[in-house]
Amino acid sequence: MILHKTYDVNSVGHLTIGGIDSAELAKEFGTPSYFLDTDAVRDMCRMYKKAFAEYFGERSVPVYAGKALCYKGIYKLIAEEGLGADCVSPGELYTANAAGFPMDKVFFHGNNKTDADLELAISLGTGHIVVDGLDELSSLDRIAGEMGVKQHILLRITPGIDPHTHKKIVTGNVDSKFGMAIMTGQAFEFVKAALETKNLILDGFHCHVGSQIFDIEPFTEAADIMLAFVAKISAEYGYTAKMLNIGGGFGVRYTEDDPEIDYVKNIRDLGAEIDKMCALYGIEKPMILMEPGRSIVAAAGCTLYTCGTVKTVNGFRSYVSVDGGMPDNPRYTLYQSQYTILNASHADRTPDFECTIAGRCCESGDLLAEGISIAKPERGDIIATLVTGAYNYSMSSNYNRLPKPPIIEIACGEAKIAVKRETYEDIISHDI
Ligand code: LLP
Repeated sequence: MILHKTYDVNSVGHLTIGGIDSAELAKEFGTPSYFLDTDAVRDMCRMYKKAFAEYFGERSVPVYAGKALCYKGIYKLIAEEGLGADCVSPGELYTANAAGFPMDKVFFHGNNKTDADLELAISLGTGHIVVDGLDELSSLDRIAGEMGVKQHILLRITPGIDPHTHKKIVTGNVDSKFGMAIMTGQAFEFVKAALETKNLILDGFHCHVGSQIFDIEPFTEAADIMLAFVAKISAEYGYTAKMLNIGGGFGVRYTEDDPEIDYVKNIRDLGAEIDKMCALYGIEKPMILMEPGRSIVAAAGCTLYTCGTVKTVNGFRSYVSVDGGMPDNPRYTLYQSQYTILNASHADRTPDFECTIAGRCCESGDLLAEGISIAKPERGDIIATLVTGAYNYSMSSNYNRLPKPPIIEIACGEAKIAVKRETYEDIISHDI
């Protein structure tokens, strides 16, 4: 096993993904390609489902955050596993619906939903719209009225805490484009306004503190603040929240330096804190929801590239260039995210060649890693980046007019295409 159970090395020294030789996968499907071990994804879904039922209460379900990885096949899998879905754009709603996902189990988020987005969400029968601000609230009330629908909603509330993650992926602090803050008093006005609407049914509250969080404290802190809010609202307005959604954000191990995470223990501790707080405030425990994205799909995903030019700039460093880069994985360029990258053709050799892994774009910043060591590669070797299941395909682009790689699902030792590789024809298909 390398890092996660999806990855191993076989007797000929090749990396295996979900039990299949990476050299065979690269030969059959080409590179660059994304691979997803769906057995591992299902295991994560089942772990969350069981732990939520046990520690949050029987009615509690995990809600998969599709922004981490969104294509029709993943919604089919998530539906089979009985999870809900968090959609954050009309495109994600459309994809979920096209995959036959039960739309009543969808939570529709976004800090700037247009009227057209709201109409689409209502017409698709979206279970809950998570309203982000006052003007959205009044637009939604009007649109629901015009469409003759009583729409269930949650309100996005900002708890005002700092989860100590990368500053670009913090979402729950007071100065945020998301939600309405408790600290400024605006969250209370928000609830009052929601209770006065004619066509909206307020079911409770939502918050999200950030992403790639390893400690449980930011979650327990958020739950404490939100339950105190629920109690205050109940005392002041006589309104009892039925649901409390505390967002996503559980971390994932990208490299050996990241800590091992015991998700079940975290959920148990969080559940215990929630029970304690409900007892303290004397409130009935709402249905507790959480929206993990990254932790469901990241570890199960892997990207294979073919090594091209290997160049040493004397006195400086060595560059290993691959046939992908920032268009398929912009996370190093954006956040300096660290990955486990290896020479999949020689995964049994000592990784003693220090290098920078470069993409193929016409941009110096197009790098996947710097100062890492892999077994010395040569042109034609297969290079693998592990743990790319989340926020890679979903953040990919066609920069430099590179076609997007396919997604290959691996289940029970069989590999099949779930999203086709883009063609050059696809790339020009919208050009007039
Ligand atoms: N719910 C809400 C409201 C969110 O904003 C997010 C992530 C999630 C759930 C899922 O969080 P997760 O379990 O995946 O951490 N592109 C960045 C991550 C941005 C996450 C934004 N919100 C990255 O590549 O690290």
